Amino acid sequence: MSTNRTFTMIKPDAVANGHIGSIINDITKAGFKIIALKYTKLSAEKAGEFYAVHKERPFYNDLVSFMSSGPIVAAILEKDNAIEEFRNLIGATNPAEAAEGTIRQKYAKSIDANAVHGSDSDENAQIEGDFFFAADERF
Ligand code: PPS
Repeated sequence: MSTNRTFTMIKPDAVANGHIGSIINDITKAGFKIIALKYTKLSAEKAGEFYAVHKERPFYNDLVSFMSSGPIVAAILEKDNAIEEFRNLIGATNPAEAAEGTIRQKYAKSIDANAVHGSDSDENAQIEGDFFFAADERF
């Protein structure tokens, strides 16, 4: 059983394509409470730091370049069993494999520009939330 918080980003592709409102609507309709929310842009350095765990993977440079290519929305979300529930809501990493009705199926075009990020563990949700939000930015 997961704890009750996860971290997400609406990625540059979804922001550029005008999907911020629809995605936040899907998230809140699914029962997630917004604890923290920020519209911002990652520098290449910050994106590299955020994704450092994937440094050895062949797509790392492309991922860092993409994630620093335009504004994003970062958020901490709360719901029972948040990690698993949110990953179910967003669907598979590759939108071509994402289930009908999931956020990636609806708003993403490719595996490298897949609309949203969702934390994969409680530990990473904590680290990722701390990366973007100070204590007085969470409610
Ligand atoms: S997972 O389940 O989120 O951990 O997926 P994973 O396959 O490990 O991917 C980690 C992050 O890398 C992104 N990704 C890619 N970017 C560019 N090109 C390719 N081919 C690619 N494959 C995976 C994927 O969207 C994950 O980003 P986040 O932000 O964690 O969703």
